[in-house]
Amino acid sequence: MAVRRAVCFGLSSLEGTMAVLFLLMTSTSVALITFMALSNKHPTIPPQDPPYLIGVGRADCTGPPADIPLMGYANPQQTAAGIHTRLFSRAFIVDDGSKRVVFVTVDIGMVSQRLRLEVLNALQVKYGTLYRHDNVVLSGTHTHAGLAGYFQYTLFIITSKGYVKSSVKALVDGIVQSVDIAHRSIRPGRIYMSQGTLEDSSVNRSPWSYLNNPQQERDRYETNTDKQVVVLKLTDLDGDGIGMLSWFAVHAVSMNYTNQMVSSDNMGYASYLLEEDKNRGSLPGEGPFVAGFSSSNLGDVSPNTRGPVCVNTGLPCDYLNSSCPIGGTKMCQASGPGEDMFESTRLIGHNIYKKAKELYGKADEEVTGFLHAAHQWVNMTDVTVQINSTHTAKTCKPALGHSFAAGTTDGGGDLNFTQGAVEGDPFWDGIRDTLLGEPSNETQECHRPKPILLSTGEMSWPVPWHPEIVDVQIITIGSVAVVAVPGEMTTMSGRRIREAVKQELDSGSSLKDTVVVIAGLSNIYTHYITTFEEYQIQRYEGASTIYGPHTLSAYLQKYRHLARAIAQGTESELERGPEPPYFTNLPNLLPVAPADRKPVNSSFGEVLEQVFPVYRVGDVVSVTFVAGNPRHSGDIRDKTFITVEVFQNTSSSWEVIHTDASWETRFHWVKGSNRESNATVEWRIPPSAQLGSYRIRHFGHYKQLIGFRPVITAYQGTSDVFAVSQTYYY
Ligand SMILES: *[C@@H]1O[C@H](CO)[C@@H](O)[C@H](O)[C@H]1NC(C)=O
Ligand SMILES: *[C@@H]1O[C@H](CO)[C@@H](O)[C@H](O)[C@H]1NC(C)=O
Ligand SMILES: *[C@@H]1O[C@H](CO)[C@@H](O)[C@H](O)[C@H]1NC(C)=O
Ligand SMILES: *[C@@H]1O[C@H](CO)[C@@H](O)[C@H](O)[C@H]1NC(C)=O
Ligand SMILES: *[C@@H]1O[C@H](CO)[C@@H](O)[C@H](O)[C@H]1NC(C)=O
Ligand SMILES: *[C@@H]1O[C@H](CO)[C@@H](O)[C@H](O)[C@H]1NC(C)=O
Ligand SMILES: *[C@@H]1O[C@H](CO)[C@@H](O)[C@H](O)[C@H]1NC(C)=O
Ligand SMILES: *[C@@H]1O[C@H](CO)[C@@H](O)[C@H](O)[C@H]1NC(C)=O
Ligand SMILES: *[C@@H]1O[C@H](CO)[C@@H](O)[C@H](O)[C@H]1NC(C)=O
Repeated sequence: MAVRRAVCFGLSSLEGTMAVLFLLMTSTSVALITFMALSNKHPTIPPQDPPYLIGVGRADCTGPPADIPLMGYANPQQTAAGIHTRLFSRAFIVDDGSKRVVFVTVDIGMVSQRLRLEVLNALQVKYGTLYRHDNVVLSGTHTHAGLAGYFQYTLFIITSKGYVKSSVKALVDGIVQSVDIAHRSIRPGRIYMSQGTLEDSSVNRSPWSYLNNPQQERDRYETNTDKQVVVLKLTDLDGDGIGMLSWFAVHAVSMNYTNQMVSSDNMGYASYLLEEDKNRGSLPGEGPFVAGFSSSNLGDVSPNTRGPVCVNTGLPCDYLNSSCPIGGTKMCQASGPGEDMFESTRLIGHNIYKKAKELYGKADEEVTGFLHAAHQWVNMTDVTVQINSTHTAKTCKPALGHSFAAGTTDGGGDLNFTQGAVEGDPFWDGIRDTLLGEPSNETQECHRPKPILLSTGEMSWPVPWHPEIVDVQIITIGSVAVVAVPGEMTTMSGRRIREAVKQELDSGSSLKDTVVVIAGLSNIYTHYITTFEEYQIQRYEGASTIYGPHTLSAYLQKYRHLARAIAQGTESELERGPEPPYFTNLPNLLPVAPADRKPVNSSFGEVLEQVFPVYRVGDVVSVTFVAGNPRHSGDIRDKTFITVEVFQNTSSSWEVIHTDASWETRFHWVKGSNRESNATVEWRIPPSAQLGSYRIRHFGHYKQLIGFRPVITAYQGTSDVFAVSQTYYY
């Protein structure tokens, strides 16, 4: 494995000195601002625009890209086999002199309870009580091409090949490192906000459910998905940009389940592009500017803007159940706007980036005022909600409906389930009853009209299948409120939550005209949250609303409660609620990676398929090496499996221009039978490439057994030198 750039190490001592300087600076300003805040006799009146302290940080959180299932589609065939783009954690710290909040957006399917607990434990060891469950929000971008294996509830353990230590470690280390970097970079600065709308980048994938919301409510909105983009521009006191944080509601599923490369998908590509802009000359994942694109109320929102069609017949899918006359659910697939999934990822990512960049450029509304952080743990199986003046209702023990197994038009299930099922299927119910036991009458009644497929709340072997204790959390930065939601809220659910929170906050004495954003996939994963009306239709999202028809009503009540506490400045008096469990002895079902083999008379890193001598811009260079299993490379964060290098005439040396984090490169790990494997590296030569001499290198590790002792050895391989030329010379 090559370290991205030797220069990183050269700088580390200098960085140490800088860190001390920053610390001195920061502690002085904290003292100053604390003094100002304390000396203010009316703490509810915001001070005269003192600066915040702001820190931003980004760190690689890519785990071993081989054999481990990808998290999102729950498709057992979709196991990692290489890298499309790397995954990063991006942390933003804001401090008003007395309070501090941290928002982290991670290129990952969702944050799990287990991941959050491990991150908070690690932060506590390093920082004591500075970064806590109440002031740290962890949110996932919802890419479906990150590694699985970081969950502690049985349902996810089954689809993830267990609790995979190497997967968890990369995520915990990457997230904590991003907070460390943000912490060290803290300096006085200012925040500006702007909002706009982004068209042509999202469609509703369950319009039938959406239409079941009251007409009166729907009439208040022009579209059936939220198009708004909210951007926060973070600057230092000189006005130089240090970071950007934005929210937009769309599923990061431009890459479909046939992809096996780790990828940050459309949202990650938007970060990539803005960071490339602001950190000119840096390799991906390097440079000080951090651009976070956070998920939002994307539950029913697809990026596959051409919509679904029966791919075998060209006929439209059924509107209610998204099924095809021939081939059923599996044949009804959404795609677009590009010709393939890579182009779709590029187009959607570019749209989001372009809009955020435009809004960043014109952000001039300064965000000022105190910070707040409100958090509670809630037993979501036990919430009573007032549904009208005379009646109450209750949330349920978790359960998944039949249509959960149908999947969506962004990735359908393999079996004969369809969306919109309000009756069970005797065939599958029979199998379920035999294997897992019958759902209790009470739970069946509670979830109605959902026909229960898996009564996860009544299954606890070897550990519970689904969580009971859920985080609800809101942080506010001046007049911007971030609602951290534990799953995927549909468009209308998100609107109701935003409206309720805004109403409570605006009624407080210090906050007016609050802008409320939903940060999706935060803190713990509890699948979907639909409105009561959408739930009745039981498409995938309704079938996956695990605490029953009143799930959203319960959350509305809980988030209102938090918002009210913030408005009254009493959030520190909120009841903590029951702490979530931390299970030990979770099973790892991923077998140890076996020793590697190589073809006779070859060596690891040797080229099996050589490059051509000459290419033109727009061509794809491809080279294949004898490879080891990437899992043998251990901690791969901040390293690369591949480089594309150009020969610099002036210095007579090779310069790295792309790594495996680059959009232009693809690192495919091809696993053969017989424990042999290949690394095929592709480079799509971009229009910006200079003409000249190039080479591609591959770095890895292989395992051998010497006696019974496993020995890991590093290897590398280099392609022939090839030219990028205007013309072919053959
Ligand atoms: C889907 O709905 C259509 C009617 O809209 C119905 O004809 C068809 O049988 C349904 N398919 C399944 C598999 O339920
Ligand atoms: C995934 O995208 C590829 C194109 O990149 C396409 O060939 C394939 O049919 C798609 N599969 C699904 C299930 O959408
Ligand atoms: C959650 O509430 C249910 C129903 O009251 C109860 O049975 C369960 O023990 C509670 N769970 C926890 C962890 O407190
Ligand atoms: C309240 O809701 C219940 C259950 O849906 C319903 O039976 C009752 O009529 C409602 N009462 C009022 C006053 O709307
Ligand atoms: C699904 O397949 C099973 C087994 O072939 C069959 O018994 C069942 O009726 C099918 N269900 C539907 C909804 O088609
Ligand atoms: C549900 O109720 C029915 C009728 O009262 C009863 O026969 C059945 O055994 C009950 N099932 C369970 C799982 O309790
Ligand atoms: C491997 O190399 C040896 C020695 O050069 C040669 O005798 C043998 O035929 C080679 N085997 C293969 C499969 O190429
Ligand atoms: C590796 O590449 C060589 C040359 O193309 C091919 O013959 C071999 O089957 C490949 N091995 C695997 C494991 O894909
Ligand atoms: C290096 O020199 C060669 C021959 O003069 C030229 O074709 C090539 O473009 C140069 N490469 C770079 C990277 O400047």
